[in-house]
Amino acid sequence: MTKQQVVQKLTGAPRAPRKTFGKAFAPSNIALCKYWGKRNAELNLPINSSLSISLGHLGTETVISQNESSDDMWLNDRHLDADETFAKRLIAYLNLFRPSPDFFFKISTTNNFPTAAGLASSASGYAALILALDDFFDWNLEGKALSILARLGSGSASRSVYQGFVQWYRGASDDGMDSYAEQLPEVWPELRLAVLTVSHATKPVSSTEGMQKTVETSTLYKSWPEKAERDLDLLRTAIQYKYFEQLGSVAESNALAMHATMIDTSPPVLYWLPETVAIFRKIWHLRRQGEQLYFTIDAGPNVKLLYEKPDEKMIQNHFPHAEIINPFGGI
Ligand code: PMV
Repeated sequence: MTKQQVVQKLTGAPRAPRKTFGKAFAPSNIALCKYWGKRNAELNLPINSSLSISLGHLGTETVISQNESSDDMWLNDRHLDADETFAKRLIAYLNLFRPSPDFFFKISTTNNFPTAAGLASSASGYAALILALDDFFDWNLEGKALSILARLGSGSASRSVYQGFVQWYRGASDDGMDSYAEQLPEVWPELRLAVLTVSHATKPVSSTEGMQKTVETSTLYKSWPEKAERDLDLLRTAIQYKYFEQLGSVAESNALAMHATMIDTSPPVLYWLPETVAIFRKIWHLRRQGEQLYFTIDAGPNVKLLYEKPDEKMIQNHFPHAEIINPFGGI
């Protein structure tokens, strides 16, 4: 099945928008059990299920309307040239939703997370975009369909259509209709994340390319799907009973295992910088002294700390530049 066929199946025959503009917000998310590896690159179908926490009010707001003669795209008040990599990917996604080839969009996207936080924007970006399109065309799609459509833009975006803890089921069907995310019922108001930014530079290897190379060449990757499914179960229990130590240790081990498969890739994919490793060592040192903090890390050099609210002072003392996030604040 192609992306276009998936879109048709979920939104019906193309028709004109019912509103003058569509507007939506979607949170960014950080995975505790990572998505790493695609079984279908066209539809962003994952090899393993994953689980994340959405970041509350930190994310992307998108406003979309019709434009004459060409797409007009804005990112954080900057006009995008149609030949920029980011714009090309956006246009390819918008092509799936045009009621006719001569229909163009004006789209204005604003990320409200501090640029200094070094958070990825594709998850909240494509989730906000599909929610804004749903508003604009007045499709009134349910969460499952929105998650599937967001996935076509970026895999992790399938989780950003919800707040709180979110699980993305890998599914097994070829058309991916069973590969969507769902919000878990639990909340954990004391849980905190803190981003330690090591570098703002664009990653040398995109996650899509990194995943593909890993799946093709890493021997260690063979053990990843099983490890991910086991970690996901352990995380579900940790979330259900609020076992912080289990949540933190499983998330940290999952992130390190994902990076081990990347390092085992030929040629190696290494996203860490010396400062990244120094932070790992500092966290391990603090844990040996009895502190309760763990980390997770995505396809980049920046580290995300996991801790609970009573430890905020300790975190601020040891990591004065940390960008603190309260994922359940205001939900
Ligand atoms: O959605 P993508 O293609 O940017 O991939 C995200 C991959 C990781 O961030 C490393 C893991 C995850 O589950 O978010």
